[in-house]
Amino acid sequence: MKIDGKPHRTIWPAPDGNAVEIIDQTKLPHLFEVARLETLKDAAHAIKAMLVRGAPLIGATAAYGMWLAMREDSSDAGLSNAYDRLYETRPTAVNLRWALDAARTKLGPLAPDARADAAFTLAGEICDEDVEINRSIGEAGLAVIKDIQSRKKPRETINVLTHCNAGWLATVDWGTATAPIYLAHDAGIPVHVWVDETRPRNQGASLTAWELSNHGVPHTVIVDNAGGHYMQHGMVDLVITGTDRTTRAGDVCNKIGTYLKALAAHDNGVPFYVGLPSPTVDWTIVDGVRDIPIEERDFREVTEITGRLADGKVVTVTITPEKSAAANPAFDVTPARLVTGLLTERGLAEPSEEGLLRLFPEMRQAGED
Ligand code: MRU
Repeated sequence: MKIDGKPHRTIWPAPDGNAVEIIDQTKLPHLFEVARLETLKDAAHAIKAMLVRGAPLIGATAAYGMWLAMREDSSDAGLSNAYDRLYETRPTAVNLRWALDAARTKLGPLAPDARADAAFTLAGEICDEDVEINRSIGEAGLAVIKDIQSRKKPRETINVLTHCNAGWLATVDWGTATAPIYLAHDAGIPVHVWVDETRPRNQGASLTAWELSNHGVPHTVIVDNAGGHYMQHGMVDLVITGTDRTTRAGDVCNKIGTYLKALAAHDNGVPFYVGLPSPTVDWTIVDGVRDIPIEERDFREVTEITGRLADGKVVTVTITPEKSAAANPAFDVTPARLVTGLLTERGLAEPSEEGLLRLFPEMRQAGED
């Protein structure tokens, strides 16, 4: 997508060929800064400290992390160490495991001195594939938006609510939840986005709002608790969120608070869609509440908040009493029964095992061993 009119991805090989570059998302929206990852340690840190985040981008960064690691030590022990170091960075987004498995499968049989080049090629392929997948998810979502539009008055605005950032910053480009929005906007359909601020890290307020501003998409940032109110008043036509891991039965694990949005949408008859790239399906599990590991993050993300002062200085302040405990589960699970449809690169899937397998029949046997 574009920043100041210039096309950008979220991750790319450095022009000197010795590193990979990323947008440091911990600095947005106040500062646009590019960070350089030169080592396995840099890549693992970028994922863990959330310089990069969002399930598809975590996977893409891990793939480049394998390249950086193979330049340092391409032995069998180096391969296995790199896999483990990157795997332990964040537990919920399954794209991480998917990308690391792809790298291990490709690199394992190769001679050590061929591994770095192969890892670099694979990382590039994973990135290009992600861009294509998201564009196709956009097409599937655009069809849904057009259908909703056909039932409204001509030129009436379509109001989409989204949670967290499942935008282009969370992927290599386009985003999953935002791809349909960008395509609709570019096609001249009047869309407006309700952007949940998404406490505690505020990915909605700081990242989704920044993206939509840059692309010129009308949007309004709201507190996380406002969505139900707007749904009750007919001011939300559809919800589109992303997912960090979706089970083969269609349970969707996404940023904490997504479940409450789905409940409110269900109560108000508002369709609830999820942008789902196939690498985000965990075909080995069925029950999301039972089987998806939920990342518990530092309590200070809850007790503190970061923002910019009038003089431009970015500061972090404490917002809770010193002695109060705080808990910080980063994701929750929305059961498939609350999901209207899964927007995949192969089209719209019913949120069920049969629905997913109808579009991905080659996965029928997966997870049976
Ligand atoms: O903790 P984050 O910022 O990595 O969480 C991101 C999300 O929850 C996204 O909605 C999800 O990864 C889908 S990204 C297309």
